[in-house]
Amino acid sequence: MDKLLIEGGVPLVGEVAISGAKNAALPILCASLLCGDTLRLSNIPHLNDISTMLRLIGQMGVVVTMDGNEALTLDSSGLNNPFAPYDMVKTMRASILVLGPLLARCGEARVSLPGGCAIGARPVDQHIKGLQAMGAEITVEGGYVHATASRLRGTRIVTDMVTVTGTENLMMAAVLADGETVIENAAREPEVVDLANCLVSMGAQISGAGTDCIRIQGVDKLHGAAHSVMPDRIETGTYLCAAAATHGNVRLTRTSAVWLDSVVDKLRETGCEIDCQADAIVLKAPQRLKAVSIRTAPYPAFPTDMQAQFMAINCVAEGSAVIRETIFENRFMHAVELIRLGADIRIDANNALVTGVPRLDGATVMATDLRASASLVIAGLVAQGETLIERIYHLDRGYERIEEKLSRLGARVRRVR
Ligand code: UD1
Repeated sequence: MDKLLIEGGVPLVGEVAISGAKNAALPILCASLLCGDTLRLSNIPHLNDISTMLRLIGQMGVVVTMDGNEALTLDSSGLNNPFAPYDMVKTMRASILVLGPLLARCGEARVSLPGGCAIGARPVDQHIKGLQAMGAEITVEGGYVHATASRLRGTRIVTDMVTVTGTENLMMAAVLADGETVIENAAREPEVVDLANCLVSMGAQISGAGTDCIRIQGVDKLHGAAHSVMPDRIETGTYLCAAAATHGNVRLTRTSAVWLDSVVDKLRETGCEIDCQADAIVLKAPQRLKAVSIRTAPYPAFPTDMQAQFMAINCVAEGSAVIRETIFENRFMHAVELIRLGADIRIDANNALVTGVPRLDGATVMATDLRASASLVIAGLVAQGETLIERIYHLDRGYERIEEKLSRLGARVRRVR
């Protein structure tokens, strides 16, 4: 298994390009299942989760053609196997996103339940409840969700909590339903909007994406289209945090701060100067950061996917801060690893009290999930001496060529096989 070896203490300086958003690309790949035509996608990041999703829809009959470096064409005219096996779903929870599109297009779907994961139980009851409200017959047997519906019908759905992939699954199912579907308490995440934009370019009728009430007027079929995936706001935020923690000065290109208000505000609170340009962000960090308290919540509030990175910043900032995680019940696994590097963190249920220390010292640490890994990378970049991060397959799921991008910014980092 690959490991990442970091020799810390070097400020990140320079320019790096941000990749397409994993969490927008995954549902958009699933949207290809909805039409019997070709979907041309660009700005697709090279990530393990993307490869997994391509394998998953490939074994369903979708023909994938790579068009150069970051573009691909999906032809789902031969879709013939509405089945998502456990072996694939267990490696990536977002596989559940095939459920709505398969049911809408094929009238049937058999999709493995994803099960829990490191950061919490993460049930999919809202996905199932919403599809049932649209008339689907659903049974859960042997670990699989089996759904059938001759044609889904539009209805009003109020989700019990804000769920990102739940909103996306139901929106995709509704585009081919009979009549109007209204999703209330919908997720407002920018990735939901990117998916809606792609669906609209395929002929779907959707309004309200980006608000908590999305209206979808069902159509008989969708057609082929071309779509460019939005930049990855979490990758952007992660590089901003890495630059801040190392007292660096970076320019991130092919991205935008429009989806990052809460993160940019918090970074400014630490003392960083941030210049938000049309398609770039420039950050200049001070010599000593101030600790900042955060509370995660659905968009547009502070994203849970940036919580771990801010914990790393607070480890070396001046003062104490409280980090409150409200989305997932077990998302402080990085704390114990950060403590191994010398951090002062006290956990009480969903709150972490972090008191900045003058320095961290390199050690061997273990990555436990995707964003936890990112926080260990940031801590490793700051720590004196060498930090060896084990199990970096988590990082490869969500950060494209991370060691190459960090090296371009001057970091001393290399992959050890
Ligand atoms: C998505 C993101 C993930 C991010 C998360 C929260 C993708 C591929 N992943 O995950 O990176 O951390 O949003 O911003 O886009 N819940 C239920 N029942 C359901 C659905 C959700 O109880 O049917 C709960 C979850 O356990 C969690 C909360 O709702 O506590 C929010 O989860 P959700 O928004 O669904 O997360 P994902 O869509 O899985």
